[in-house]
Amino acid sequence: MLNFIFKRKTPEAIQQGDKAVVRVQRFNPDVDEKPYMQEFEVPMSPETTLLDALQYIKTELDGSLTFRKSCRHAICGSCAMNVNGSNKLVCHTPLSKSLDHHGRVTIKPLPYLPIIKDMVVDRTSFWKQYLRVKPWLVPPDDIPEKEFRMSPEEVEALHNAETCIMCGACYSACSVVGMTKEYIGPHALLKSFLRVMDPRDSIPGERLADVSDTDGVYRCHTIFNCIDACPKGLNPTQAIETLRKLAQKREAWEAARRERQKHLTEPTDVKV
Ligand code: F3S
Ligand code: FES
Repeated sequence: MLNFIFKRKTPEAIQQGDKAVVRVQRFNPDVDEKPYMQEFEVPMSPETTLLDALQYIKTELDGSLTFRKSCRHAICGSCAMNVNGSNKLVCHTPLSKSLDHHGRVTIKPLPYLPIIKDMVVDRTSFWKQYLRVKPWLVPPDDIPEKEFRMSPEEVEALHNAETCIMCGACYSACSVVGMTKEYIGPHALLKSFLRVMDPRDSIPGERLADVSDTDGVYRCHTIFNCIDACPKGLNPTQAIETLRKLAQKREAWEAARRERQKHLTEPTDVKV
């Protein structure tokens, strides 16, 4: 039994001995026919995160609970899970702010991906689609002796994409991914956007052609779940829309890039 039923306390009102109920989805393919929910009581303080709660369960209550985590600082992207129906980084989500009126929080693995065990999902399709867009920068053949210089406008254009940590929250929130794993997905399209907009990249035309097939930018139904899910506040939908527009003028965009790369050591104003 809970020794205290938590009713939406502010973090400051949490007292010694307060506990929360953490409902976690369990599934071990070796013994379980299907996933089921299990509840644990977890002590909490104002600072307790959902990852702390999961770690407490694993260390003190049930060592078989399986989940991914590493940095604990919203950097590595490995701890993305589904919390009360929304994808979040559990290391960056306070326990006290996730509780319902019964003092409970529900944690499940990321949706639409095969479960390996408990919270650990198979991200093969995620990485396969990521590699499909050639996520690396392809510099010009003639690399200048001086550094590449970019205008403030060019840097600003990349800002929407460069802080992505590849956590998979957007990918597994997208209903189109739920329908088909052939869709490139918001994470990879955001990366393609990053390279297409980067004046140092030499193959924007090839990239725009690659994302313009039936599994690319035209497969996005503008559902917006990817925006809601992103823990970094990025906007994959806007990036996809920009790629769609640029794909219409692919040759002109590539010609402008070739011209720009003749002056990579001299910043110029480039309008997008
Ligand atoms: Fe999916 Fe985001 Fe498009 S949720 S359908 S990639 S707007
Ligand atoms: Fe690295 Fe959460 S543990 S992002």
